[in-house]
Amino acid sequence: MIKDILIYPNPILRQKSKPVEEFDDVLHQLLDDLSETMEHYGGVGLASVQIGVPKAAFIINIPVKDENDEDIIKKENLIEVINPQIISQDGEQVFSEGCLSVPGYTTEIKRAKTIQVKYQDRYGNHISKKFYGYMAVAWLHECEHLSGRIFVENLNFTDRKKFEKNWKKKKKKKKNEENKNKI
Ligand code: CO
Repeated sequence: MIKDILIYPNPILRQKSKPVEEFDDVLHQLLDDLSETMEHYGGVGLASVQIGVPKAAFIINIPVKDENDEDIIKKENLIEVINPQIISQDGEQVFSEGCLSVPGYTTEIKRAKTIQVKYQDRYGNHISKKFYGYMAVAWLHECEHLSGRIFVENLNFTDRKKFEKNWKKKKKKKKNEENKNKI
């Protein structure tokens, strides 16, 4: 089912996600909802807390290029991550990031280039892997969601202030537009 995505600064987004203990139908439904929702809104990653369920789970699907050099999402590239742990991080990269909870905003964020991780799949199997590049960025972004953080918290003081000011302005403008013809 397609769910609503919580928008910054919804306080639920600040909640720390709890570890998943049962790898049951409830979890599988949650993961299916996440992937339907992400597909609907056109994201690359989505954490469970973003649909209002603070459980340590997220999904990522990095686009690939088709024969016309267009970005496409392939269902088979979807990864489902439960109870992630970042074992080590290495290197540095700057990537332009956005977030479905902060629609219409992108900014460059500096993160590790490679990460060594442990996680579980939807059946509870333990997986150990190394990721780099875009995938490492997406992983670190989603792990931040699970600790109740949003990527704009990585901005320096001045950029953060600028973001908050513009975000408020944008929200006000949207509200005015919504109320336009309501008599
Ligand atoms: Co996000």
